[in-house]
Amino acid sequence: MTAQPPALDWGQLGFGYLRTPWRYRSHWREGAWDSGVLTEDNQVHISEASAALHYGQQCFEGLKAYRTADGRVNLFRPDQNALRMQRSCARLLMPPVPTETFVGACKRVVRANLDFVPPYGTGGALYLRPFLIGVGDSIAVTSAPEFLFSVFAVPVGAYFKGGLSPMNFVTSGYDRAAPQGTGAAKVGGNYAASLLPGAEAKGHRFADCIYLDPATHTKIEEVGAANFFAITRDGRFVTPRSPSILPSITKYSLLHLAAERLGLEVEEGDVFIDRLDEYAEAGACGTAAVITPIGGIQHGEHFHVFHSETEVGPVTRRLYEELVGIQYGDRPAPEGWIV
Ligand code: COI
Repeated sequence: MTAQPPALDWGQLGFGYLRTPWRYRSHWREGAWDSGVLTEDNQVHISEASAALHYGQQCFEGLKAYRTADGRVNLFRPDQNALRMQRSCARLLMPPVPTETFVGACKRVVRANLDFVPPYGTGGALYLRPFLIGVGDSIAVTSAPEFLFSVFAVPVGAYFKGGLSPMNFVTSGYDRAAPQGTGAAKVGGNYAASLLPGAEAKGHRFADCIYLDPATHTKIEEVGAANFFAITRDGRFVTPRSPSILPSITKYSLLHLAAERLGLEVEEGDVFIDRLDEYAEAGACGTAAVITPIGGIQHGEHFHVFHSETEVGPVTRRLYEELVGIQYGDRPAPEGWIV
């Protein structure tokens, strides 16, 4: 526990690193995970030959802890992050962290850094970053001899400046992932490959870039480090389906909420970049991005505006209120969503 609540301007937090006191560490050696510890050391000391450094054998997760009005702290669907990390591990030949260990580590890190969970009403949350890296002395292109699993925590605010206000995006000429590659795994290489496209988009004053499907470049896949959704003019919730998309837990939560709470028809399907007129609203969604309304998309010479470049569309707003209401404990959660 920290002795003093930190003097932070909670309402002004962005998405940056801030060192919190405690993080969880566990090592996998000779076929088993050890029991794991909390440590104050925020530096990782690993072999120069670590597979994570050379061959990108690593994966990570992102989830948040939310302070409720009555002072409790909610984790949102941490089991889903555990399962997704297990799938990333399978793809990169790494030992999976059992769900119970993963969720237990997240709880321990939240409890140990409790003073850093932003107060209710500030819009902030404690972002947890679990990661798993291949370490140890081996230079061969094979799976690492040892692994490190860690979870650290950072208080954060909005990922895209402006929070729930529309942002503009531009389609990228780069591909984020190959059709049967690692796009569906949350691995660092996907994000390294997104740095240049993202920087080019931001250099042209867009919030980030939109990736089209790598096979045909005709369909929307992702929005920077977030997933894409749209509301058709006849009121359906649509989000792309593809083997190269990162399966966002927020996106699957919205699919459920759109159907169950808003009574919308929902569909995972194709969103063709040259048929954006079919959509009344669009947005980016993810743990970090929450729901960020998309004002417009630049594609080649054409700039398409959805609902408005300045106003949030009505369905996007209702989805946001439902999702965020559940996360901060203001609305009833579906069974098992809040821990
Ligand atoms: C998340 O939404 O948690 C992400 O992982 C996106 C990004 C900040 C890497």
